[in-house]
Parts: sequence; C-alpha cells; structure tokens
Amino acid sequence: MPSDLPLKVKIGPSILNSDLSCLADECNSLIKNGADYLHLDVMDGHFVPNLTFGAPVVKSLRKHVERSVLFDMHMMVAEPEKWIQDMANAGADQYVFHYEASKDPANCIRLVKESGMKVGMAVKPKTDVTLVDEYADMVDLVLIMTVEPGFGGQKFMVDMMPKVAHLRQKFPKLEVEVDGGVSPKNVDQCFTAGANQIVCGSAITQNSDPAGVIKQLKTIADDAFKF
Ligand code: DX5
Ligand code: ZN
Repeated sequence: MPSDLPLKVKIGPSILNSDLSCLADECNSLIKNGADYLHLDVMDGHFVPNLTFGAPVVKSLRKHVERSVLFDMHMMVAEPEKWIQDMANAGADQYVFHYEASKDPANCIRLVKESGMKVGMAVKPKTDVTLVDEYADMVDLVLIMTVEPGFGGQKFMVDMMPKVAHLRQKFPKLEVEVDGGVSPKNVDQCFTAGANQIVCGSAITQNSDPAGVIKQLKTIADDAFKF
C-alpha cells in the first residue's frame, strides 16, 4: 500500500561482499557513513546457486545494530513463506520475496503483513515486470534485479531500466528498488528511470571511502531523480 508522502531517495548498502567475520561492525560503520537502511541478502542454495545466512544471524546482528536501522531482507529462497515468522522474530523489518519463488504471491504478501513486517516483491532479470502489476497496490516495495541474483560484484544490466520506468509510470507512489551492480557510474540511469531505493554492494564496501561513495550516490540523485 503505497503512501501519500513524497518519495524519498534512500541508499541501502548490501553487506554481501563486506567482511562477514565482523558483520555488526560493518553494518554500524555503513550507517555511520550515511546508509539509510541495510540490505541483507539471504540465499538458500536452491533458488540461487549460493548460500549466505538465515534468521539466527539476523537475530544476533539485531542485538548490535540500533533498532531504528531498517533491515531489508532480500530473500533469494525457494518457498519464501517458510521463513517469514523466523525473520520477523529475529528483528527483520522488511521481507522482500521473489515473485518467481512463490506458488501463491498474494498469500505470501498476506503472511508477511500479518507478521508485522513490510513486504516487498522482487523480480529476476528474465521475469516480465507486468506480472507484478496486480500486486503493486498490496506491497510496500518492488525490487527490480539488475543482475542475476546469487553473487555480488556483477555487471549492472542497463536493459532492466524500462522495467523501472514501467513501474514508476504506472504506480507513481510505489517504492521502487534496484539491486545489482549499481555504482556512481550508472546510478543516474536508475534515478532517471524512477528508482528511489538504491541497493549498492561492492561499489560501497570495496571502496576505501564508503562515506564518499554514499554521498556521491545521493548527490547524483539531486539532479537525476525527478519524481
Ligand atoms: C545479488 C544480491 C545483491 C548484490 C549487491 O544476488 O541480491 O544485493 O549482491 O551487490 P553488488 O552491488 O556488488 O552487485
Ligand atoms: Zn540483494
């Protein structure tokens, strides 16, 4: 249910390619460096060919990161319905599941809402974005993947921008997030197409000046985001 407030640009670093041995420190320093929220990539080795972490790690992390910091859970998992309650109990704030992974997306949306978390729907690069249209009024956010999900550090797929533009044109108030290969070199195209929530992993975490990169992304938004 999109709100009537004006859309805000937000930068959510992905911690996937950060130093996972000190995840809490990495998260807190990203917040100190200007991150608006944290994007946490959950992979199950089935929906995507990689494994990361689950609710127990989120629960531990939550104890070390201020409650006001939003945990945006990118659930790259089969059967996303299965982990909703665990993630809510662990202190996750937003549960973004993949359209492709759910047999009954409307039911999955309902279950996430009942858990008290915000709900998002993600689509992989090969998925037709118009399939999401019927759910757009039920979710808090739609995530357009700009790489094949599974790994950080891949090349940004500029040909996903028409999907972003489609959503922005059809649903002017919808929170639209992009994820994968985003950096200061291409983020203007995301903003121009209408994305307002920007996930950015390695371009931030692998840079010696993460605060500088986050600032740069926001400065680019000042010119490029016109919605
Ligand atoms: C890919 C993940 C992304 C990604 C972001 O499967 O969902 O969140 O790791 O990292 P970069 O920006 O390095 O592509
Ligand atoms: Zn992600």
